Formats: sequence, structure tokens, C-alpha cells
Amino acid sequence: MKKGKILSGMRPTGALHLGNYFGALENWVKLQDDYDCYFFVADWHALTTGYEDTSEVKNNINDIIIDWISAGLDPEKCVIFLQSSIKEHAELHLLFSMTTPLSWLYRCPTYKDQLNQIKDRNITTYGFLGYPCLQAADILMYKAEYVPVGEDQLPHLELTREIARRFNNLFEEVFPEPQAILTKAKVLPGTDGRKMSKSYGNTIALSDSPEVIGKKVSTMITDPARIKKDDPGHPDICTVFAFHKVFNEEEIPQIEEDCKGGKIGCVQCKKRLAQKMTEHLEPIYERRQKLLEKPGVVKEILHNGNENAKKVASKTMEEVRKAMKIDFM
Ligand code: TRP
Ligand code: SF4
Repeated sequence: MKKGKILSGMRPTGALHLGNYFGALENWVKLQDDYDCYFFVADWHALTTGYEDTSEVKNNINDIIIDWISAGLDPEKCVIFLQSSIKEHAELHLLFSMTTPLSWLYRCPTYKDQLNQIKDRNITTYGFLGYPCLQAADILMYKAEYVPVGEDQLPHLELTREIARRFNNLFEEVFPEPQAILTKAKVLPGTDGRKMSKSYGNTIALSDSPEVIGKKVSTMITDPARIKKDDPGHPDICTVFAFHKVFNEEEIPQIEEDCKGGKIGCVQCKKRLAQKMTEHLEPIYERRQKLLEKPGVVKEILHNGNENAKKVASKTMEEVRKAMKIDFM
């Protein structure tokens, strides 16, 4: 017996990196055994900020599904689908746009932040303001009880709860109020020590081969005070050490001692890390190679998942139209 219903999604914005993996995907893979899970690609959400140039969307959808399956999501255990294939999301979004006060959307912190940050594109649009309304439609469509997300998404989840509450009060009790499952993000910096982010060019992709990982590790920033091997090091400020914490927990005390005592060189320390990372990531890399040999596998996965999602979505929309008394035909 599964413990409840879970839904989460990601925008298809290109190859997932290790920050995305440890921030979300690793957790999804664990949840699929115990919960009734729906995971989807939020391609319409990608349009809210990227409507002008859609040339990468198709490829990105393909890549993200390959990333998910390589990481261990199993289409036999969870429903994997594409947002834009389930047109009901657009209908529910439209109906929520009728009931959601503008003030709720304007005060959403992610809205204000993004407006300040994104200067190269015009996102002062109706669609971008309504981003959380579309997200509420995604979640409530499946009556999800839990939504695994990072901290940045909490305001959207709160809005989803408010949108559900308002609908239930105005019409009939249709939607449960979903709860967030906060993913405790393991802290993985980028190879240069800053936050791992595509815009900094400091990422390690989930799809990187062991060779590429080895190269990237060898360029990682270490403690700048260490020039000779026997200089005492400061692991707390070292990027390599931050990675050891995630990939090589059992050897942390030893490395810390050896680094502080000047008993291990950075080159050796990096080799050890690359080896540990490969052990952890190689199964993912190998699953990917197998998937890439099967053309059409992504379409097939989405086709099946879409069919399952569609059943739930059309049932919910019937209830919604009935509750709103707009079911004329
Ligand atoms: N806004 C989410 C993000 O950027 C993606 C998303 C869209 C989502 N719809 C969702 C996440 C529904 C959870 C549930 O990460
Ligand atoms: Fe970092 Fe390891 Fe070098 Fe210490 S020995 S500074 S932990 S790379």
C-alpha cells in the first residue's frame, strides 16, 4: 500500500547537473517506491521566460527524460508525463486565472526576484505573472498530497494551497491542500567554488563521462594557501573537500586530518575524489548509454505516462466543471 500521492516537475532547461540531482532527482528516485508518484516535464513553464526562442525545447525534453531514467526513475513505478500533452492543465490554469486575485500574484517573491534578475528578455507578461497559477493547476489536477521541492518553490506551494482553498470555498470541496516535502539539498558547489549553476559554467553534468569528471575535478579550486604538499590545508574552504563530503563520507575524518597536517597533496586528494565520484555515478552513466542505443524510448515512456496522466486529469476536470456549474455539454 502506497503512502499517498506525490507530484513534482522540472522545467526542461538543458542537461541536469549534480546540483539538480542531489537537490531533487535523487529524492524522487527514493520516493517512487513508497508513494504514488507523478513526475512531469513543465515545458509550458519553460515558455513563461523563454517564449521567444523555443529552438531548444524539444531537445531539452528528450534530455531531461534521459537524465531522469538514467538516475533511476522507473516508468513502471511512477507516471512520467509531459505537461503540454495534457491540455487539461491549460483549462484548469484558465479557470484558476478567473479566481486568483492579482494581488496574490504580484506579491509572490519569485515574481519580484525574476523581474529584477532577468533583463535580457521581456517577462512583464501575463503568462509570467500567472506562473504560479499554472503550477497550481499542475499540482491540484492530480490531487497531490505532497510536493517534493526545494526551498525556492515554497511560495508557489503556499499559493497553490490558497488557490485550492478559494476554489473549495467558492464552489465545492474538490481539491486537497498539498504539503511540501522539503528536499534537504546537500551542498555541492561548482568546480570554481561558487554556487553550481549553468550561467557560471562551473557545473558537472549528470551525463558527464568518468573521463570528463576526472578532468573537471582536476581543475577544482582548492585551498589557495597550499602551495607545497606539506603546507597545512584548510579543508573547510576547499571545493574538493565539499565534494568528498557528498561522495566519500566515510573517509572525511582521515582526509581532514591529512590535509590539516600537510600529509596529503591536493593532486592525490582529487584523484581519490574522482574515483569515488565515478563509483557513484558510473551506474547512471551506463544506464544512459543503454538508453541512447534505443531510439524512440523517450517517446514511448511519455506516450504511456501521458495516457495515465490524461485519465486522472479528465476526471478532475469533470469534477471542476461540475463544481463550477459550467458543465453545459
Ligand atoms: N516551478 C518549478 C521549478 O521551477 C517547476 C514546476 C512546475 C513544478 N510545476 C510544478 C514543481 C509543480 C512542482 C510541482 O522548479
Ligand atoms: Fe582540498 Fe584535499 Fe587539497 Fe586539502 S588536500 S586543500 S581537502 S584538495
